[in-house]
Amino acid sequence: MAIKYGRPLESRVRFAPAEAKGTPAERLDLATRPRRNRRSEWARRMVRESVLSTDDLIWPLFVSEGRSAPVASMPGVDRLTVDDIVRAAERAAKLTIPCIAIFPYTDPSLRDENGSEALNPDNLVCQAVRAIKKEVPEIGVLCDVALDPYTSHGHDGLMRDGIILNDETVAVLVKQAIVQAEAGCDIIAPSDMMDGRVGAIRSALDKADLLDVQIMSYTAKYASAFYGPFRDAVGSSATLSGDKRTYQMDFGNSDEALREAELDIAEGADMIMVKPGLPYLDILTRIKDAFGMPTFAYQVSGEYAMIMAAAQNGWIDGDKAMAESLSAFKRAGADGVLTYFAPRMAEKLKAR
Ligand code: PBG
Repeated sequence: MAIKYGRPLESRVRFAPAEAKGTPAERLDLATRPRRNRRSEWARRMVRESVLSTDDLIWPLFVSEGRSAPVASMPGVDRLTVDDIVRAAERAAKLTIPCIAIFPYTDPSLRDENGSEALNPDNLVCQAVRAIKKEVPEIGVLCDVALDPYTSHGHDGLMRDGIILNDETVAVLVKQAIVQAEAGCDIIAPSDMMDGRVGAIRSALDKADLLDVQIMSYTAKYASAFYGPFRDAVGSSATLSGDKRTYQMDFGNSDEALREAELDIAEGADMIMVKPGLPYLDILTRIKDAFGMPTFAYQVSGEYAMIMAAAQNGWIDGDKAMAESLSAFKRAGADGVLTYFAPRMAEKLKAR
């Protein structure tokens, strides 16, 4: 048998020969001692296989009307006014975070059956994008494409008789994408999981002469309990009727994620994403290995909230859990991570 990771086992572990004078009887005669490389900080740094940098971070931010205010289920995360989101973008740029993602809290009075506020070129997201692009042009801006922050029923698409319509929804998402791209958004990120939306958005962008606008597709997005705090932040928890299992993926599936990736790549996605993060690292690795695309993970609101809640109770060390969880994405093959920890992690990395 070929030995892949070292010498044949029998030569690796032996007790020290009895004639070796002064050898404590319990000393093993080992050819290989993996602990040697872990002995000191410098050596650990030297042999470390994957390393997180600020370039790996995408920071999701929430924009709202009125006054900036905390999101109760996401300690340390606020909904920000347009002015404050520009300040956050400046902070991100200073920390060399390459990109921020913008999600709106839409006033309930503006939500309707069809999510029509999504198509308003002056909606909060578009206002925020324009302000950020004007004040902080060096930072990348990603916008989510889906209707859930805008619909009265909290679903990502158009609903008829309790069913989420696919093709009709795609037609609206295409318009939403164009509105956001025209406001200056760099990366369009469809998070709705309708079939065919990546291709439809790509061809509409191209027709509108928006050739350079990138698409990061939420490729393998699972119907997950870990989105709860996000739905609080965008105000869709209260309104959501039922669940999203007829369009988001079933958490028992893995091959299906590869088929989704294949489709999104064929339809023109520049980057693909797996979501949630830690519970789906196996999916991330499979997709990265199979396609070699720029592949991202979304450490979602519930993952963030769990770490924060445990840390606030003194049950875990929050900073260490943050760094460990984010490094796991790199190790699993991610090119980057959307994470609410982005500024805190970047500050730690800068301070090293
Ligand atoms: C909207 C959307 C969701 C998230 C990102 N875009 C929620 C959902 O699908 O219900 C979740 C992000 C998070 O939990 O941090 N389609």
